[in-house]
Amino acid sequence: MAYRGFVPGRFPTADLKRSRILEISPDITMIEGYISDDFFFKPPSCNCFVLRDGDMVLLVDTGTYPFYRRAILDVLDRHRRDGAKRLVLMLTQGHFDHVANNDVILEAGYGDVRFLLPEVELPVIDLFHHWMGDFEAMTEYYNPYREFPMVFPTAVIGLTGRMSARLARSLLSSSCRMLFRGIQNLADRAEILRLDERVEWGFGDVVFKGWEVGRFLAVHDATHSPGHLSFYDPQDKVFLTGDATLEINPAFFDSSLETCIEMMGRFRRFAELGYVETATDAHRSSIWAQELATAFDYNPIHPLQAVDAAHGGDECAALYGFFEEYYAALKREVMSALTRLREATVPEMVEEFEGSRDPNARFKTTLAFPRVPSRVDVMVANVMKENGIQRRREGERIVFSA
Ligand SMILES: [Fe+2]
Repeated sequence: MAYRGFVPGRFPTADLKRSRILEISPDITMIEGYISDDFFFKPPSCNCFVLRDGDMVLLVDTGTYPFYRRAILDVLDRHRRDGAKRLVLMLTQGHFDHVANNDVILEAGYGDVRFLLPEVELPVIDLFHHWMGDFEAMTEYYNPYREFPMVFPTAVIGLTGRMSARLARSLLSSSCRMLFRGIQNLADRAEILRLDERVEWGFGDVVFKGWEVGRFLAVHDATHSPGHLSFYDPQDKVFLTGDATLEINPAFFDSSLETCIEMMGRFRRFAELGYVETATDAHRSSIWAQELATAFDYNPIHPLQAVDAAHGGDECAALYGFFEEYYAALKREVMSALTRLREATVPEMVEEFEGSRDPNARFKTTLAFPRVPSRVDVMVANVMKENGIQRRREGERIVFSA
């Protein structure tokens, strides 16, 4: 089996072997991913899901490491021998930790293979240009390069960023090229899902827009990325929410904290109305949550952060309710930092935010970049952008006013 995918600096094979295959429901298998506290040398890999409906198999996400190819192929093979004829690949998002094994679908032995991708996620799956473009967009709000933490390996860019943004940018560009080298994400053979082709599914007073795939709905929630999808199985009431329910949100400048807050309210209501009996997402794992808690020396804010999946309507509603409050608190704490300072730059608001005693803000601060990809500066800039906060340039400084 040829591997042409992602090769990180250090290969955590021994750690990966602890990943499990979990039967989430009668028709959904989860291939558990990987999280470490060393983002650059042991990058995360998402949970991958295989969903079955009649003669169709839907593969959601493919992970970072070649290690998972065997597990994915084994599950796809089991379904093929059991009568499945059509294979569809979809992604919760175009980020590297969800797409690096996309070409595995070409090795699965299915005659009918499709890869469906929302049009708004096309710029995201163009990994190198997406990362560089995201940083470029942030320069309208602050100099993101000089905010790289002063620890190995990010200090190289942080120090350079203090002298020259242009030089820091070219350093970042070389690192990104190295990080994404050789990833075959098959973007060139994706069938594009247009926004005007979305259908609406209503559940009581909750309405989702998305694309139907067999009996499943790919819910376009646009939270963690512009084309972010969550996947719903109405038969067994399973909801897989990708990175919409992820503590590091908003992870990118083009993530939307506002949409995260709004969608969590909708997801909670959806569960309260009795439509969700099993809930999990792209990085939820009792094993890796425990490892992170030990590495960062924290207790989860809510016990459901540390489970493989929430079970029963009440637990599922509580999971979404937790994230609704978490995201709302992050926004509130950023805005109140600006109110207290009256006028401030992004780095000044970051410092103020990091002094907050709110448990949610403290949790966000604890999950510090570069050990995990949780960036407070990106979140602050995101809140400024999405709330249209006035800004002006004073020489090098970009100052925001309450
Ligand atoms: Fe992810």
